[in-house]
Amino acid sequence: MSTVDERSVRDLDDGLDRLLAKIASEHGVPCLGYKPSCLRRRVSVRLRATGAESFAAYAALLDAHPEEWPRLLDALTINVTGFFRDHSVYRVLREQVIPALVEAQSGIVRGWSAGCASGEEAWSVAMLLAEHAGVERTRVLATDIDTQSLARATAGVYPSIIAREMPEELQRQWWSGYEPVVVSDALRRCVSFERFNLLTDQAPPSAYDLITCRNVLIYFARDAQEALFMRFADALRMGGVLVLGKVEILSGPARARFVPIDARERIYRRVA
Ligand SMILES: C[S@@+](CC[C@H](N)C(=O)[O-])C[C@H]1O[C@@H](n2cnc3c(N)ncnc32)[C@H](O)[C@@H]1O
Repeated sequence: MSTVDERSVRDLDDGLDRLLAKIASEHGVPCLGYKPSCLRRRVSVRLRATGAESFAAYAALLDAHPEEWPRLLDALTINVTGFFRDHSVYRVLREQVIPALVEAQSGIVRGWSAGCASGEEAWSVAMLLAEHAGVERTRVLATDIDTQSLARATAGVYPSIIAREMPEELQRQWWSGYEPVVVSDALRRCVSFERFNLLTDQAPPSAYDLITCRNVLIYFARDAQEALFMRFADALRMGGVLVLGKVEILSGPARARFVPIDARERIYRRVA
């Protein structure tokens, strides 16, 4: 016989499973593939904020107060980001990796910022590619699952405090306004934004020179991470470069397809 504690944990899990199914069916965010502990933690933040006493009560609250949906989706997608987030990674990209990538490519240089949040990573990558390849030869696809973040990304307007995050010479070259910061038209022509679910959508067919997927995979279960590493390898041209977040580690069968360029900075080259 199960104890009261075991039963209440099971009831709680049932409630969470039903809530996750509701999120998937009503808002197209399939939660399968995320770490269960991460989902539970993120949803619990909203339970506490709203005073709901169970996942089932929270699901009912969503029906009664649809204005809660964006807060839940925000909590689930965790879109903290920044221009040149982790300066040491961008230094290696700017000084070593991108010059070599551009040198090896006579045509268009293609980047994919996968999980771009509100666009800061995509603009940062585009600036560095365009610095070496020129705007005519630079194309960056920037994707995220979160449509609100994508709307902010596409607007390309940021509070002026972000000036702290960027080298001054790049600000002068790529911003057309400072208060607030406005991304220049030249840079806008290099970047396109699209909604894309890394767990379920087919990778875009292009052979990318550079893929950045930073601080996204940490929320995914191990199987989902390993499948995605293989899809990134397929989406890169041979010799193309994958950049992960500082705490993300390349794992699974895709390890045989990459060699580290800078293991500390999580920068890898496709070799197979
Ligand atoms: C913490 S942000 C990282 C932003 C940026 N890459 C960086 O490192 O600064 C994580 C982003 O991953 C996105 N994300 C989460 N699950 C996703 C999925 N299944 N497919 C695509 N993007 C996803 C979130 O919407 C969020 O914008």
